[in-house]
Amino acid sequence: MDDHAATPPDDLTPHDAAAELARLATLLDRANAAYHTDDAPLLSDAAYDEAKRRNAAIEDRFPDLKRDDSPSDQIGAAPAERFGKIVHARAMLSLGNAFDADDVAEFDARIRRYLGLGLDAAVAYTAEPKIDGLSLTLRYEGGQLVHAATRGNGRVGEDVTRNALTVDDIPRDVTGAPDILEVRGEIYMSHADFTALNERAAAEGGKVFANPRNAAAGSLRQLDPAITATRPLRFFAYAWGELSAPLSDTQSGALDRLAAMGFVVNDRTRRCADVAAMLATYDAIARDRADLGYDIDGVVYKVDRLDWQERLGFRSTTPRWAVAHKFPAQTAWTRLLGIDINVGRTGALSPIARLEPVTVGGVVVSNATLHNEDYVAGRDANGGAIRGGRDLRVGDRVEIYRAGDVIPKVRDVDPGARPDGAEPYVFPEACPECGSPATREPGESVRRCTGGLICPAQRVARLKHFVSRSALDIEGIGDKEVERFHDLGWVREPADIFTLRARHGTGLQTVAGLEGWGETSAANLFAGIEAARSQPLARVLFALGIRHLGEVAGQVLARHYRDWDAFAAAVDGAAPAADRHRAAATATLAERQAAKDEGRRARIAPVVERAWDGVEREARAAWDELVGIDGIGAVLALAICDALAAPRERAAIDAVVAQLDIAPPEAVAAESPVAGKTVVFTGTLERMTRAEAKARAESLGAKVSGSVSGKTDLLVAGPGAGSKADKAAALGVTVLDEDAWLAMIGG
Ligand code: IVH
Repeated sequence: MDDHAATPPDDLTPHDAAAELARLATLLDRANAAYHTDDAPLLSDAAYDEAKRRNAAIEDRFPDLKRDDSPSDQIGAAPAERFGKIVHARAMLSLGNAFDADDVAEFDARIRRYLGLGLDAAVAYTAEPKIDGLSLTLRYEGGQLVHAATRGNGRVGEDVTRNALTVDDIPRDVTGAPDILEVRGEIYMSHADFTALNERAAAEGGKVFANPRNAAAGSLRQLDPAITATRPLRFFAYAWGELSAPLSDTQSGALDRLAAMGFVVNDRTRRCADVAAMLATYDAIARDRADLGYDIDGVVYKVDRLDWQERLGFRSTTPRWAVAHKFPAQTAWTRLLGIDINVGRTGALSPIARLEPVTVGGVVVSNATLHNEDYVAGRDANGGAIRGGRDLRVGDRVEIYRAGDVIPKVRDVDPGARPDGAEPYVFPEACPECGSPATREPGESVRRCTGGLICPAQRVARLKHFVSRSALDIEGIGDKEVERFHDLGWVREPADIFTLRARHGTGLQTVAGLEGWGETSAANLFAGIEAARSQPLARVLFALGIRHLGEVAGQVLARHYRDWDAFAAAVDGAAPAADRHRAAATATLAERQAAKDEGRRARIAPVVERAWDGVEREARAAWDELVGIDGIGAVLALAICDALAAPRERAAIDAVVAQLDIAPPEAVAAESPVAGKTVVFTGTLERMTRAEAKARAESLGAKVSGSVSGKTDLLVAGPGAGSKADKAAALGVTVLDEDAWLAMIGG
């Protein structure tokens, strides 16, 4: 095949030269694609250069044979098919939200509780505008910018270094910085620059952006940095990632350091001594919002002391030490043109309002969520009235609101503007996608399609969830591709994604032959799929789309069971008990009701016991273990057992698991003396709060449990420890006091 690969250009016949040029064009095309999508490039830099030189030399000798897609015509660096990836040294997280003064007071109270501080302790915060742009991280080593990356999914972002270098606010080199410095902040476009850019684009017949945020995102994510350079982007620094030395001991001090190094920090940032000062800063910023010259969507509060930030740490996706106080939603009135039903991943039937397009806070809105059946009817979950009990009918004038990025919602209806003859909306009782009955469980506000994997809408929604960023994050497959491959019948369940290439023996050609696809994009797709085969267990658990099994539960289960087989065996073991649990719960409800009806106290224990009759001890123990895991409740445990016990679902799960290479959770500080140990805290802790103790132990790889059992390794007992200490002693479990525990984990 490659007979001529080593033949010097001068010795090639025209026929062989043409073949060689074809080979080199494909090779360089693939190498470009691999370079931008793979962690392992196809060619070394030297081999890439050599291939380009050889291609040029052959073209020199046989100018007539030069191809239309000649690699020589690609100017400068090969145009990127996509951006390269950068794994963030520290995850880039988002912020929790507060919507009113009560939420802010609760944020402060939560921090005090966590740190064990009284109401009289001084806890200062910074307050700064929340810029409505996109976050960017800049890594400096030895004072030189080495890369810039977008947030991506929080763990892995896109390499936009060359684009970032065109932004005036981003220094190429900094003095007085720690050796390793990751500066984080927001890329944005000012109102004036946005208007000018759009005017220019409109005059030239180019793309007009809906708002400054989209313009900033579109400009930063240009594959050609020369285009980014023509876009007036700016950058505010407000946070940091990895550092080789601390910037300061306070947030405000760190911002001053960043400013001294040449970064732009927001001049509306204030240090606030208490909640009252935070709210006053919020009001002042809100008042001046229209005059700032750039979009903001709230105010961010951060604990000023960095040692406290450190102790407070993070929940799964947000820091405990910061919160975003969002501005109230923006609203507008328009006409409800129709109500469509969307069938989601778990079969939930969600009504969607189709609206006469209307601008709400600078964004054109033509769809809004209507939540559920009751919301359309003007009822809340308990049968109480919402909107004064007014229902929503097609033709009504409705008020739309949207806050920040969230999906627009319908807030109110104008009964005076209802057209004559408008009929009450009848919510479907069959799935509009597959015709299966759609039912409502008692006490649930959601009506669900009972079709499971028979329902195409559920299948597609599950596939979308499966490939999504926070699940398996399969590069090259998004919602559009899922729909397309599903419609073609190529991908019906998650496992099919991984067999796509093999099933299409001539895979590249098949996908590449689709409209809008080509060799390069198909190669990228398959590279993305291959790369997605190895996954941490927590993500796999989340990706399965089991009801109630969110990202946090995925992590908790992964930490507990560590590998798929152990997890599946535990769930299979618990399944018989799960059914009984359900029976017991239902029986208990019925018995309670009966007892109430009869006007006497419920005597439920015997009912529960009867329901458990006949369940083997092992099943009951497996069930107890599952619901005994801190953070796993009975509702989730039931959903997991149900998902793994349903034959179709199980077959789909087993099939995809067989395609994956599942990694156990990273041994968090594997060298820690408590890694893998099960720890129980009891009694009063005096040097930290229970929440902090638990978070700390977990970050060191320990499992924290609420009750003492044969599996407990350590009991940390403060003063007042009662029965747990006795039980631990009886079981021979090691018991430590708080000081001994702190000494063990290194203070
Ligand atoms: S602090 C660990 N400060 O808001 C948290 N974020 O909704 C680091 N944002 O992803 C973020 N202005 O893109 C912080 N002054 C500010 C901000 C800000 C805008 C963005 C940021 C973040 C998002 C979260």
